[in-house]
Amino acid sequence: MTSETLPVSAAPAARSVRIMAPAKVNLVLRVLDRRPDGYHNLWSLMHTVGLEDELCLRLLDEPATVRLHCDDPSLPTDGRNLVVRAATLVLERTQFEGGVEIHLRKRIPAGAGLGGGSSDAAATILGMACLLDVRWSREESERLGQELGSDVSFFFSAPSAVVSGRGENVTPCRLTGERWGVLVHPGFPIETRWAYQRLAESRAGATPLEERLGELEGKQMLRWDDVSPLMANDFEAPLLPSFPALVTVKNMLFRAGAEQALLSGSGSTVFGVFRDEATAVRAALAIGQQPGALAYAVPFSSDSASCQMVSGFGPS
Ligand code: C5P
Repeated sequence: MTSETLPVSAAPAARSVRIMAPAKVNLVLRVLDRRPDGYHNLWSLMHTVGLEDELCLRLLDEPATVRLHCDDPSLPTDGRNLVVRAATLVLERTQFEGGVEIHLRKRIPAGAGLGGGSSDAAATILGMACLLDVRWSREESERLGQELGSDVSFFFSAPSAVVSGRGENVTPCRLTGERWGVLVHPGFPIETRWAYQRLAESRAGATPLEERLGELEGKQMLRWDDVSPLMANDFEAPLLPSFPALVTVKNMLFRAGAEQALLSGSGSTVFGVFRDEATAVRAALAIGQQPGALAYAVPFSSDSASCQMVSGFGPS
């Protein structure tokens, strides 16, 4: 394992930073055996996409204070929010004597399988490390991330990585070739824990990981042309029969020219992979007409940093 320094930096006097937190999709998601700790071993190829939340963090002189403001009133702003838990964890670990105020602009739908909360948590860790001038390695940040949720660690290796174990083993890789995504949120969430229960009830046991997937791990460069035929998500079999709207979206994506269409994570978002921007935008416009549905045409991000510092605002 390397211990590279994270790609963020701030002017030494910065008291505020703005950070973008991207959504992810799972190009492959295999759910393997159940572990003694109740979680499942996973094997996933994850990729960030150009749908982002925005976080502005400002240091406060008030000790041990984490104040979160969010433009989505349906989300909690107390300890139930992963951003608050991430900020609290960083304050504890760094023993910083002040606090932090965070403004969160949500663009990524919640309960959507797009990793929005996890990405916000990773962005909070990166942003605070930056403000406090703490130089955690990627591995150290991943370990902090795992304390908050299984998907958090991935976001320190964006735009793409193979993730295994509960989510703690992250091997960065890059995909070559251009692709566009169309994310379709059906207008309802699916709860992750419930989805795992459905999956466990629906099968006698896990099928072992295919050799051709295992072979992808450790390769630094993957070709979209090779990955695309391997795309699969183990949550589709147990979940799609209960949600016919998701099957309709999948079919619409294929009819609109998608090379692949798949559930992301444990849902509820279904995404399509397109070879060009124009077809993706046309598909998103057409599918977005469905009552209740939200459709986004997004590039598969190629940035090497998951949560980029956009600006330091200087002392406040
Ligand atoms: O880690 P996180 O809080 O995101 O996980 C939410 C739920 O998803 C867990 O409580 C567990 O039921 C399930 N899960 C799992 N195996 C994983 C990740 C999540 O069973 N690797």
